[in-house]
Amino acid sequence: MITINKEICIGCGLCVDDCFTNDIELSDGTAQAKGKFCIECGHCFAICPENAIILEGFPSLDIVDVDDNNRGNPDILLYRMKTRRSIRSFTDEHVSSSDLQKILEMGKFSPKAGNIQNVSYVVIEENIPYVRKLAVESLYGMSDLTEEQKKIPNMTYYAKKWKEMYEYLNVPGAPDLLFCYAPLVIVIFSPSDINACIAAAHMESMVYTLGLGMFYSGFMTRAVNASPALKKFFAVDESSSARASLVIGHPAVYYQRSVPKKESLIIYR
Ligand SMILES: Cc1cc2nc3c(=O)[nH]c(=O)nc-3n(C[C@H](O)[C@H](O)[C@H](O)COP(=O)(O)O)c2cc1C
Repeated sequence: MITINKEICIGCGLCVDDCFTNDIELSDGTAQAKGKFCIECGHCFAICPENAIILEGFPSLDIVDVDDNNRGNPDILLYRMKTRRSIRSFTDEHVSSSDLQKILEMGKFSPKAGNIQNVSYVVIEENIPYVRKLAVESLYGMSDLTEEQKKIPNMTYYAKKWKEMYEYLNVPGAPDLLFCYAPLVIVIFSPSDINACIAAAHMESMVYTLGLGMFYSGFMTRAVNASPALKKFFAVDESSSARASLVIGHPAVYYQRSVPKKESLIIYR
């Protein structure tokens, strides 16, 4: 909810023009919130030259001033995308809580359709062994493929891996084929695939920038969605959908160079 400090408002109309839901008007020379369709996106707050907008209902405002010098460098941004790799080999070192908070903040501040904050995060650290057991059991339950499923690219290979993971479950010292011994897993839930995936992608860029490594685990996401036991343990609604799983730690591999990619199909009209 927004209110406008009329003592400070100079009636410049910037907030009126920028309001996506047209929910602010000028009245008697100052801005006035209509209070009908506000999505709390904060554009009015961000644009006001007098800081006259009051946002209510946020646990913490946590505001930073915009400085164009801090936008970053496009060449470095592209370099980072070219040189990031999925990391599937990790050291024993844990991810610090300050790094974890930065990763989670990337999700929090990422854009969401309609500004609906409908993305949530399950952070797993000390319970990884238990979660892995439930996840591997879930994948094993999907490993007998139908003839239709066998036609899906790579599916036969995946199913073979899931069976192998299951057979390894009770073998002391058997490799961790699901999480590759990573110390941190974050499962992202949302009714919206795109909101969750945008959050995940931005979180990945923070992981890389912190010098950490990660891979997206489609296996884990699939396992969670097929496992009422995992959802119960995560204390999420049984009907909610896991959209992405980030397996994170300190890299134990170092890549020397980027890799080529096939051309994208790009159509200009
Ligand atoms: C949605 C998604 C799911 C993925 N699932 C897995 C997975 O379950 N296990 C795994 O080892 N890698 C997984 N990956 C990583 C891809 O295999 C990897 O991104 C791709 O091979 C390209 O390699 P790169 O990330 O190093 O560029 C996944 C990636 C994405 C985007």
